[in-house]
Amino acid sequence: MNISEKMKQDWDQRAQHHARYWIATENYQTEEVFAQSGEGTAQALLKTLGDLYQSSWNVLDIGCGVGRVLKPLAKYFHTLVGIDVSSSMIAQSKAWLSKHPHITTFETSGVDLCDFKDQSFDLVYSYVAFQHMPRPVFEHYLGEINRILAPEGYLALQLPIGPCCDVPIEDTIGIRSYSIQEISEKLHNNGLTFLKNTLFEEISANLSQPLDHRFHLVQKALPMKSDINVEWAQLEDPQHPSPLDMHLYEVYADKSVVLGEPQEGIRTLQSLVKRNPEHLTGWLRLAALLLETGQLQQALTTMRELTALHPQYQEGHAILQRLLEKYGKDKENTAQNIEWQTAMF
Ligand SMILES: C[S@@+](CC[C@H](N)C(=O)[O-])C[C@H]1O[C@@H](n2cnc3c(N)ncnc32)[C@H](O)[C@@H]1O
Repeated sequence: MNISEKMKQDWDQRAQHHARYWIATENYQTEEVFAQSGEGTAQALLKTLGDLYQSSWNVLDIGCGVGRVLKPLAKYFHTLVGIDVSSSMIAQSKAWLSKHPHITTFETSGVDLCDFKDQSFDLVYSYVAFQHMPRPVFEHYLGEINRILAPEGYLALQLPIGPCCDVPIEDTIGIRSYSIQEISEKLHNNGLTFLKNTLFEEISANLSQPLDHRFHLVQKALPMKSDINVEWAQLEDPQHPSPLDMHLYEVYADKSVVLGEPQEGIRTLQSLVKRNPEHLTGWLRLAALLLETGQLQQALTTMRELTALHPQYQEGHAILQRLLEKYGKDKENTAQNIEWQTAMF
C-alpha cells in the first residue's frame, strides 16, 4: 500500500463513519451547526483576500470534504472546484452541494493535481487538510499548485505554523506543523512566496500556538515545472495506528453516550477496534457499553474476541471469566445485570 492508497482507505473509513464529525469535530452535531461553521471559514477566507478578491476567479479547494466551505462561497465566485482524496467524501458532497451546479467536486489521487491544466486557477485554498498530510505529499502539492495557478495567482494556505511537529508517514490524520523557516523554504522551492502584506510578524509573534486555523496568503512568484508522475514508495507499516485517530473515535463514542445515543457509541467503538485490534481500552469500553445497554451476549462475544486476539492479556481473561460466571447464573437482561457491570470492569 502506498501513501495515496492509505489516505484513501483512512479518509473513506472516516467519511463512512460520520463525515461531518471528521471534518469539523466541534461543529458536527447538526447540519445547521456544520453549515454555520462553513460560513465562518468562508468569511475568514474572503477577509484574507481583502481587496484582491474578484468574483470572476476560478477557484480550487484542495481537500474539500463534503463542501462545507465551498457551499457558502457559491455566491462569491463564478467557478468553484473541489477535490478530495476520499470517494466517500466526494459522494456526500454531491448531496451537500446539490443546489449549486456551478460547483463541481471530484475524487483525485491525493498526491497531485494531474486532472488540471497548467495555469487554470486564479485562487487555490485549502483548510484543515494540508495539516494532516505527510510532508512529502504537501510539498508535492505545492509544486502542483504552482503549475495550475495563473501567473501571480494566489494560494490561501491554512497550516499550523510554529514549533515544528511531525508524525509517521503512515499517519493520515495526525497534525503536522511547520516552522516559518521550513514553510518559507518549501514555498520558495516551489516558486511561491508569502504575500508582502501578509502578517508575517503576527505569525512570528504566535510561535507558541502551532494549531492556528488562520489562512496565510501566498502568491505565485515564478513558474516552475512540476513532476506529476512521482512514484510513491510502498509504506513499510501501513497498519500503524494514528493516536489522534483513535482518540477522536473515543471522543465521538463518549459524546454519543452523553447525547443519549449509546448504540452510536457502540458502532463507533466497534469501528475503533476493527481499525486497531491492539486498542485494549477500546475493546473494554465496547464490552462495558454493551453490558450497560443490556446486550450481554454481545458483551461476551466482544470479550471472547479480545481474549482470542490477545491470549496473554490476563485482565481480559479475568473479566471474561467473571462475565461468564455471572451470565451463567443470570441469563436474562435484567436491571441487576446492568448494575452489576460497573463492578466487572
Ligand atoms: C478535516 S477535513 C476538512 C474538509 C474541508 N477542507 C473543510 O474544511 O470542511 C480534511 C479533508 O481533507 C481530505 N484529504 C486528506 N488528505 C488529502 C489529500 N492528500 N488530498 C486531498 N484531500 C485530502 C480528507 O478526505 C478530508 O475530506
